[in-house]
Amino acid sequence: MKLTILGGGGFRVPLVYGALLGDRAEGRVTEVVLHDLDAGRLDAVTRVLAEQAADVPDAPEVTATTDLDEALRGADFVFSAIRVGGLEGRANDERVALAQGVLGQETVGAGGIAYGLRTVPVAVDIAQRVARLAPDAWVINFTNPAGLVTEAMSRHLGNRVIGICDSPVGLGRRIARVLGANPREAWIDYVGLNHLGWVRGLRVAGRDELPRLLADPGLLGSFEEGKLFGPDWLQSLGVIPNEYLHYYYFNREAVRAYQEAHQTRGAFLRDQQARFYDEMRDPSAAAFLAWDRTRAEREATYMSENRETAGAGERDADDLSGGYEKVALALMRAIARDERTTLILNVRNQHALSVLDNDAVIEVPCLVDAGGAHPVAVDPLPDHATGLVCSVKAVEREVLAAAESGSRTTAVKAFALHPLVDSVNVARRLVDGYTQVHPGLAYLG
Ligand code: G6P
Ligand code: MN
Repeated sequence: MKLTILGGGGFRVPLVYGALLGDRAEGRVTEVVLHDLDAGRLDAVTRVLAEQAADVPDAPEVTATTDLDEALRGADFVFSAIRVGGLEGRANDERVALAQGVLGQETVGAGGIAYGLRTVPVAVDIAQRVARLAPDAWVINFTNPAGLVTEAMSRHLGNRVIGICDSPVGLGRRIARVLGANPREAWIDYVGLNHLGWVRGLRVAGRDELPRLLADPGLLGSFEEGKLFGPDWLQSLGVIPNEYLHYYYFNREAVRAYQEAHQTRGAFLRDQQARFYDEMRDPSAAAFLAWDRTRAEREATYMSENRETAGAGERDADDLSGGYEKVALALMRAIARDERTTLILNVRNQHALSVLDNDAVIEVPCLVDAGGAHPVAVDPLPDHATGLVCSVKAVEREVLAAAESGSRTTAVKAFALHPLVDSVNVARRLVDGYTQVHPGLAYLG
């Protein structure tokens, strides 16, 4: 079984490889091909993987290449985890937006639109190559903004592209834990778009346990989302939002905190990762230790500005292990071995959420088997959530249209229609600002 990882020199690749090393079952991945545009980054990551595999018998073989077509040929699975414009691009997304007084986060608001505009053309090119060179491969998209990028790719790959994110899984796990339920036995009633979803129920043996949580301010205040949003607001909502909804419900505070921060998240990660990749140029450096230290610091500081404005304190130790690689491996196993399972994934709606059309990619519980991921029909969202989902999906569609046509006017429309961009004039200035700093937006004539 051959797995190709696009963005193979990326920082989170060792997480994926670590998960593969733990898989001893028949039909597992035996061959990993890393593709990246940057040979230096490929070398660094290859060294970390070699140290991870040192004591593991029959570890999947790793090769690296800068030739995309060669990487894709013969692949059974393709993980796409690219970052167009690098972390410098992410830092610029934040800076330009904050200068206009709006949010520059890589997936939400203006920053997410800018990142989407430069990523979609590259993702479409990849999808077209996969369709041609590895038509039977399954593509698992990690590239943010994950819902939008998955939808762009699905226009060429249909249901063979599936987007993943670890935040709904983490949220479900945290809720199950505070309710004393086993996360494996709980059905998480979650739906929305990527980074824009809500948990409406958590059923164990057919019984919804969420009302018990919503009735108990003590329990509500005891886990990440409860601390971020506050028990009162969660009780008002009657559902538990994904942590990224903090950027919507507490937008003013989030924007101010990011403006006042010593460094934005993208700038912090840019510098932190530059140090790691620099360190790897020394052939005697302990690669895995350097990587793991960097990873731990990254995880501990995740969403720290949001937590600070909410007075939420440090992250729980249990929340630091991520889980994104576990979702990817579970998905791959379910497809490759027909091991039926349920996962929250980004797939085409089909008929799951009636307020959106069938081709809209949504984030929803899916039954997964050898035939792929099948979304489960869900109840409607509360009205305010439906409003947000429809607005943001409309924005995503404008981003896709702008990427296809190269129309600057359409790009302005995408920014202007976003609920977190408060004026058409701001949208115009954002397009000017972004096209000045991003070579990847030169196509917007
Ligand atoms: C969460 C999100 C991902 C994001 C990751 C890392 O897991 O769901 O989409 O890539 O955090 O965030 P960071 O700010 O560390 O890059
Ligand atoms: Mn995510």
